[in-house]
Amino acid sequence: MQSFIQSLPKAELHLHIEGSLEPELLLSLSRKHQIDLPYKNIEQIHQAYNFEDLQSFLDLYYLGASVLIDEDDFYQLMWQYLCKCKEQNIVHTEIMFDPQTHTHRGIGFDVFMPGFLRAIKQAESEWGQSVYLILSFLRHLSQEDALLTLDAAKNYLADVKAVGLDSSEQGNPPRKFAQVFSKSAELGLLKVAHAGEEGPADYVWEAIQLLHVDRIDHGVRSDEDPKLIDYLKLHQIALTVCPLSNTKLCVFDDMTQHNILKMLDQGLLVTVNSDDPSYFGGYLNENYLALHTAFELDKSTITQLVKNSFIGSFLPAEQKKHWLNQVDAALAK
Ligand code: ADE
Ligand code: ZN
Repeated sequence: MQSFIQSLPKAELHLHIEGSLEPELLLSLSRKHQIDLPYKNIEQIHQAYNFEDLQSFLDLYYLGASVLIDEDDFYQLMWQYLCKCKEQNIVHTEIMFDPQTHTHRGIGFDVFMPGFLRAIKQAESEWGQSVYLILSFLRHLSQEDALLTLDAAKNYLADVKAVGLDSSEQGNPPRKFAQVFSKSAELGLLKVAHAGEEGPADYVWEAIQLLHVDRIDHGVRSDEDPKLIDYLKLHQIALTVCPLSNTKLCVFDDMTQHNILKMLDQGLLVTVNSDDPSYFGGYLNENYLALHTAFELDKSTITQLVKNSFIGSFLPAEQKKHWLNQVDAALAK
């Protein structure tokens, strides 16, 4: 099944670039910038990456991001993930980045954006990688801060496809960000939000009704509200589900308890994604494989999930069609 998953061209719709910071790069950048971390080697990092909930992960994720200082660091980070895309046959990816994680440390858009864009242009020209960027607001900060961030991004919005909402979900409902999402829409940006990861199904409703999102990140707790499930099905609103993330952060006790296949059977547009692969033990193909190990997925289920990744993407209709045809062509081989 591993080679079957590998053989299909895939899209990834939920990936935090800061969550793709591999332990090796983390350690080498901490040495480069003489930043003290509570780990001395890879082994200690792996031991530390044992999470009990979202917040216990976020604490180490923000700590890890503190080693990203200059343009080349952001280039290396993006380049390594894009090389993974090539390796795993991820032909299109929609990548989130958290500006406030950097601006709050005095590192501005003029440092990280040129680094990201240099890597993206290189991957586009070297092997035709397709990439969109999603600027994500940190929901534990204020809407005022998000508005300032949107303003600070103004010179780079031509390179940004959508805005997102991430970080600590409980107690930071989508409604807190209605104004900045409305302003983003006026600027021509699409919208996504993490909702129903740890937070209740009501937050998914809020993301839909108050933020008018085009897609929901995670959304696995939608399952608790049958009316919401009906709505998601009727409107085919994509859910970017992240199986390894959900088990590492104890949203589900283990993979056999995951509800992604139940939601697929209910007719929802669910997709498979890696979220923060360096912290959760696997990139996109490992997420498909983990589902296969837990549920013995057949090829047609995997194919449907892969097709959903293109259908739920922000690609224009003709490119979606192109990639859906490419999936069929790979199947025919
Ligand atoms: N930031 C990075 N990964 C996240 C996740 N899974 N949930 C919320 N915020 C995040
Ligand atoms: Zn996420």
